[in-house]
Order: sequence, then C-alpha cells, then structure tokens
Amino acid sequence: MFQINENYQKLPGSYLFSTIAKKVNAYQQANPDKNIIRLGIGDVTQPLAPAIIDALHKSVDEMGHAETFRGYAPDLGYEFLRKAIVDNDYKQRGCQVEIDEVFISDGAKSDSGNIQEIFAESNRIAVCDPVYPVYVDSNVMAGRTGTYDKGTETWSNVIYMPCTAENNFVPEFPKETPDMIYLCLPNNPTGTTLTKDQLQQWVDYANRVGAVIIYDAAYEAYISEDDVAHSIYECEGARTCAIELRSFSKNAGFTGVRLGFTVVPKDLKCGDVSLNAMWARRHGTKFNGAPYIVQRAGEAVYSDEGKAQLKEQVAYYMRNAKTIKEGLKDAGYTVFGGVNAPYIWLKTPDQMTSWEFFDYLLENANVVGTPGSGFGPSGEGYFRLTAFGNYENTLKALERIKAL
Ligand code: MLT
Repeated sequence: MFQINENYQKLPGSYLFSTIAKKVNAYQQANPDKNIIRLGIGDVTQPLAPAIIDALHKSVDEMGHAETFRGYAPDLGYEFLRKAIVDNDYKQRGCQVEIDEVFISDGAKSDSGNIQEIFAESNRIAVCDPVYPVYVDSNVMAGRTGTYDKGTETWSNVIYMPCTAENNFVPEFPKETPDMIYLCLPNNPTGTTLTKDQLQQWVDYANRVGAVIIYDAAYEAYISEDDVAHSIYECEGARTCAIELRSFSKNAGFTGVRLGFTVVPKDLKCGDVSLNAMWARRHGTKFNGAPYIVQRAGEAVYSDEGKAQLKEQVAYYMRNAKTIKEGLKDAGYTVFGGVNAPYIWLKTPDQMTSWEFFDYLLENANVVGTPGSGFGPSGEGYFRLTAFGNYENTLKALERIKAL
C-alpha cells in the first residue's frame, strides 16, 4: 500500500490567498449586488506595456514559421534574456553576476518554494515574522519544520524573527543559529525594508555563522530611497552566502504571463560542492524552460521603451500606495510601508484581530485586504492593503474606509 508524504498533513488550513478567495466568493454569492474592491492578493491590474505586447506578437509570429519556430527552450534560459538580466539588473548596479549564474524560471513563487530542495532536511530555517507563507509551507512539505503549535501558530523547528512596529520592522539576529535565512526585501507583507548597511550586516552574519540567505527581491522595482539595495549582491561578501530570487510579476505585470529567475553564484559552496551546479542539475531535471515567447517578452522589459513604460507603471502603483497611506493616516490609522514597496501595512483599529478587521472591512466597506496574522503570529493586529488595484478603485476603497 502506498504511503503519502505525511508532512502535507501537518499544514494547517489552506494556502492564505486561497482561503481569502473562498471567503470573498462566498460573500459575493450571498450579496450579488455588492461591488467588492479587491486589495487583497498582490495581483497587478494594469495591462502589459506596449513594448512587451510587441515582443509577444513578434515572437508568436516566429513560432508560426518553420525557419523561426522554437521547441524546448534551453532549460536554464535563453542567453538573450540572461544577458539582458546580467547587464541591466547587475552590471549596471556594480554587482558581479555572470550569465551562467542566472536561471530563468516560470516565476519567483515556484523558485522560492523549490529552492529548499537542494538543502538538507536537517537544516534549520529562520524567517521574518510576518512572512510570505510560501517559505514556511514549502519547508513544512519537506519535513524541515518540526511540529505545529496551534496556540502560538508556530513551528517547533523554525526560528522566527519578529518584525513589528516596536523594532521598526528590522529583524534581529536570532539567538539560535539558523542554516537558511529567508529575507524578502522590500518586504512582503509589511512594505518596509532595510537600508543597505543593515543588509550588509545580515550578509556578514550569514558568512560568519555559515548560513545561506535566500533573498527574495521581487519588489525591488518599487524602491524609491537611495540607501536601499536593489540586489543583495550590492553587499560585499554576498556571493559566498546568498541566492537571489527575482520576479517579472510586480515590475512588469507578468503575474499571468509567468517569468522569474534565480541567481546562484558559483562562489556559493558547501565544502567543495557548488550550489550553482546543484541548482543547474535540479533545474535540468525538473524544468523544461520558460516559453520562448515569454522570454522574449522578458527581454523587452530591458529595452529602452520597455524601461520607460514600466517606470510609468510602477509610478502608477506607487501613486496608489501614497493615496492609501495618506488616506488612512487622515482617517486616524497607523500605517507603515508604501514608500519602497506596493504594500501598506496598517494597525487594525479598536484592538480588532486581523481576521475580525478582514470581516468588518468586507461587510461594511466591501473592500478586501489581507489579514496580517495570515503571514505569521507577529502579523496579528495588522492588515495589508495592496497598491496593485486600479487608481479609481483605490480612491473608492479609501472613501469607503474613511466613511466607516
Ligand atoms: C501576495 O499577495 O503576497 C503575492 O501576490 C503573492 C505572490 O506573489 O505569490
């Protein structure tokens, strides 16, 4: 008789955003006349930029002719895209990253869930609390997290690094030494970030204790302040301790198109073993490459037109962030984030729990957000709103919240 991976049985509830979608759909069904504004999941709303659409059309046409048709993509990604990434995201920022250190994928969510596979089951992970749920859940599935305590909503073998208003959302070095440290900066869900100096301290710490940093930079396009690093490789020593995950979802609106990449430097080693070679082996075995047309679309992100159009798109969402942040402040809320990231993190009013506020907002303002406690115990009493809505809906949502 076959056995299942029992670790899956340990996962409490469903994936956060699935739970929210179910709740919202049930509410909509019961109240078909209500116009719900969704500022929950960080999904983009603006159409793909013209430069990207052009690249898609062109590459679709290529697929229709025998001379230019493409079959399987190279499993690690087309060189034209890897080169554009290296030149624009790294060389231009003074970071040393080579083409064969960039692995193209179908998105940062898959990579952030899969990357743990190349590490031992005995490794201890450290996460910020609150945290993007994929990091913890994927380690639960791999059997790395110990047992779940319903009371504290924590796993016995996970090191939690609380990030709250009390410590300015800056994680402190943990008392116990982790093997793998997940950092998402600018941060999802709090919308806050670290300065480059603070990040450098994390790199130094990881090198000192022999830990690897899994660095999720999905929101780097939203950085507006000068002293914030766009890549962890801006920090000295990061090549020996850090893997960086990047996404095209948030900077270029690819949530439905799917494209991302992971950088594994060749200097990152465990003894003599190269993690770059391990990830190449894993990628080659389990992944058949992102579609050609999507990689061409990704290349267009780095064209002059693409860059100019996407700068405008990011500015559009950041205007929403400002609108939400200032609107909530005027209404008496305590708010964080929204300066270097498209997320606003607010304190729930009147001591409401995160889920109480979720229901309150849904029922009384018909606005959907994300309960902070869904991201971890230190998220209790907080709530996340995304700036990825359209401007008109964002204004309307704010009016409704102010009128409560
Ligand atoms: C979020 O809302 O946290 C993100 O959109 C989820 C994701 O990027 O997978």
